[in-house]
Amino acid sequence: MEKLQTVAVHLHTKRSKEMATIHTSLAFACFVYAYIFISSHARDVPTDSYATLGHGDATPSGSNFTFVCDPKRYSRLGLDMKKFPFCDKSLPYDVRASDLVKQMTLSEKVLQLGNTNRGVARLGLPKYEWWSEALHGVSNVGPGTFFDDLVPGSTSFPTVITSAASFNESLWKTIGQAVSTEARAMYNLGRAGLTYWSPNINVVRDPRWGRAIETPGEDPFVVGKYAANYVRGLQDVEGTEDFKDLNSRPLKVSSCCKHYAAYDVDNWKGVVRETFDARVREQDMVETFLRPFEMCIKEGDVSSIMCSYNRVNGIPTCADPKLLNQTIRGVWDLHGYVEASVQQGKVREADIDKSLKYLYVVLMRLGFFDGSPQYTSLGKKDICTEENIELAREAAREGTVLLKNVDQTLPLDADKIKTLAVIGPHANATAAMIGNYAGVPCKIVSPLEALSAYGEVDYKVGCADMRCRDDSLISPAMQAAKKADATIIVAGIDLSIEAESRDRVDLLLPGFQTQLINQVAGAAKGPVILVLFSAGGLDVSFAKNNPKIGAILWAGFPGEKGGPAIADVIFGKYNPGGRLPLTWHEASYTEMLPMTSMSLRPVDSKGYPGRTYKFFNGSTVYPFGYGLSYTKFNYVLKSAVRSTHIKLNKFQHCYDIKYSDESYTPSCPSVRIDDMECKGKIKFEVEVQNVGDRDGSDVLIVYSKPPEGIADTYIKQVVDFRRVFVPAGGSKKVKFVLNVCNSLRVVDYNAYSVLPSGGHTIVIGDNVISFPVHVNFSNFC
Ligand SMILES: *[C@@H]1O[C@H](CO)[C@@H](O)[C@H](O)[C@H]1NC(C)=O
Ligand SMILES: *[C@@H]1O[C@H](CO)[C@@H](O)[C@H](O)[C@H]1NC(C)=O
Ligand SMILES: *[C@@H]1O[C@H](CO)[C@@H](O)[C@H](O)[C@H]1NC(C)=O
Ligand SMILES: *[C@@H]1O[C@H](CO)[C@@H](O)[C@H](O)[C@H]1NC(C)=O
Ligand SMILES: *[C@@H]1O[C@H](CO)[C@@H](O)[C@H](O)[C@H]1NC(C)=O
Ligand SMILES: *[C@@H]1O[C@H](CO)[C@@H](O)[C@H](O)[C@H]1NC(C)=O
Repeated sequence: MEKLQTVAVHLHTKRSKEMATIHTSLAFACFVYAYIFISSHARDVPTDSYATLGHGDATPSGSNFTFVCDPKRYSRLGLDMKKFPFCDKSLPYDVRASDLVKQMTLSEKVLQLGNTNRGVARLGLPKYEWWSEALHGVSNVGPGTFFDDLVPGSTSFPTVITSAASFNESLWKTIGQAVSTEARAMYNLGRAGLTYWSPNINVVRDPRWGRAIETPGEDPFVVGKYAANYVRGLQDVEGTEDFKDLNSRPLKVSSCCKHYAAYDVDNWKGVVRETFDARVREQDMVETFLRPFEMCIKEGDVSSIMCSYNRVNGIPTCADPKLLNQTIRGVWDLHGYVEASVQQGKVREADIDKSLKYLYVVLMRLGFFDGSPQYTSLGKKDICTEENIELAREAAREGTVLLKNVDQTLPLDADKIKTLAVIGPHANATAAMIGNYAGVPCKIVSPLEALSAYGEVDYKVGCADMRCRDDSLISPAMQAAKKADATIIVAGIDLSIEAESRDRVDLLLPGFQTQLINQVAGAAKGPVILVLFSAGGLDVSFAKNNPKIGAILWAGFPGEKGGPAIADVIFGKYNPGGRLPLTWHEASYTEMLPMTSMSLRPVDSKGYPGRTYKFFNGSTVYPFGYGLSYTKFNYVLKSAVRSTHIKLNKFQHCYDIKYSDESYTPSCPSVRIDDMECKGKIKFEVEVQNVGDRDGSDVLIVYSKPPEGIADTYIKQVVDFRRVFVPAGGSKKVKFVLNVCNSLRVVDYNAYSVLPSGGHTIVIGDNVISFPVHVNFSNFC
């Protein structure tokens, strides 16, 4: 859990009025770094009527808190609001924020450091708790949000890895909108904050990482698209998407992309995140680790970035001016605040001022100072609505991936199947389905409960728990399978095996689960369906190859409506169309390289293979992007631009890149993208035909492949994707417009993004369609 540490601040006012030394007390042994917003927030003042309430949220129930600059509130506090220019709505936010900070003494400023801001009574500034979470629903992990009798729960959507598998951008945004509406409603009721430290957009570089459950998978572009959509869903106030001044654009709630950057080792064989020094090549940094953050800021316009626990090349990410200041603010133009974590250090008062201003501007954009009339009517009726709960079910269905389906084992025919053996340690999964950073769900429905609606169920757990340490419960499960018309085994892993602070040591099903599955399948009378819960991939080659197991479904961790979603898919109420958002490696993969090797590329000198589908060329259990359907789709390429000729002007130069065959040197091997306008587009249209007999959704994943022979680059990379619904017998035309530079770029050894000349290839799906795109530069004159 991401707890913040308490922070003790000593003021060295004698020596220098300018310096505050910050010591963090290591109150929570679970980490070393404290999160100090080198900046911070407002929450309360002793004289405010609600200041003494235990929870101390910005709008505790029973108080009459509306917003800071409410004239009635000031008169209640016995203060003259006119004396405080920060309450003057005619002034720009940055001027108001500066005024507020200017009115504080250094010791008052220091009370606004840390996630719990104390406020300043004499200024009428209330306290504010910055830390709330909303990874896949409003969560009570942070102290800013809680549930009680008034608000007993919030909608618990599937975990991010499951929603990611839908490859549906509008779904991601819609979930964000539903979550922020519930968050605003809870804020009005004094149960939640306005600032949410979600989503987690670190790329899953290694299948062992314990936090894969929180992320959208291994591809930086897909992760970045998820981030941009979810952030827009959380943050955007309808009608203000095109607001001119992005520094004052209103926010529904504030979202935070974390953890910046190159963080994906939690605790692997004693290597822990707080002390791990990630040795990262700049090439990997630019190409993989930073890309989602760049997209989160540029496309999502996120209002906060959190830095990560680890060091990168010896420097704590939270103290790296290049990463934090130059890249985030300078190059990408963040409109918002950065949470910094420092262990101990001296901070200049000027830096505190700057950070505080960023924070107050965000609170102003949220309406904390002036109110948010468009949201004041939200309340209890807007939390756990039927519509949101149905969206949770829809998201779980869209994220379900069909991995195997021999001879149309699925869907089961509800008219013919009268008895079901429901088996396995996840068959009656409840809390396991909502994973971590969850809240209290509205109503959780297990697979067992949902499947019971379809027939007479014989439930046998098969294992005492997830670790399945002995085989004593296998025999009763076999007996059940022997008699039933169909057998559904729900197996996999949970937070006891992959979680925050817990990386996996292997990719196998734990304990006797494999025996359970094989023996039950061997005994079964009817068709056998294996449903798997996991975030990272599992080596289930045994099940893939076992002819008695007719179908395999991956459900990820599907949220509070996981049970009904699984039943919908098994009985054909929904035709699955999800795709794996990460590679399912063979178990031997983890023996080939340590988790601590950060390189995405193979390390030939050490015999390490590459990482992710972009750099790993070996065999897999199931590849990235894999997923079947109950129907069959054909693709027809309708039209495509196949070459791009770019004329260089006198300021643009050819740039050398390495080819594996060093004797091969094209006349103009590439041009650096920073030197180009990058207006070129690759346009094409694909007709998706549903030639089967069931309606269904298909995901078109578009990849680019660089020209043959370029040394040290990716095998292929995702450049776009689209999920489309096509009725049985129907077809749909899907248009793609790719930017030449974004889609064909290569990051070279020196970390320059370049557009290579020569024959690139656009590939759709698993080589279903491919066509060449020729890039040709001609020199000026
Ligand atoms: C809220 O306002 C009402 C009406 O002005 C007043 O009666 C009540 O005491 C106030 N409650 C608090 C907690 O200040
Ligand atoms: C994508 O998600 C939206 C929900 O936002 C849903 O209405 C739509 O049907 C989904 N598209 C496909 C093709 O499944
Ligand atoms: C951050 O960047 C700004 C402008 O790019 C510069 O003025 C400032 O000195 C930088 N601060 C630090 C701490 O590097
Ligand atoms: C299923 O799990 C729920 C919640 O943990 C529990 O109350 C119920 O008894 C379980 N059902 C069976 C049949 O074990
Ligand atoms: C796969 O990658 C390894 C590691 O770089 C390399 O040695 C091998 O030749 C590659 N195999 C193929 C078939 O490309
Ligand atoms: C690139 O363009 C030049 C000028 O039009 C042409 O002479 C040359 O053949 C082209 N090269 C390729 C590989 O298409």
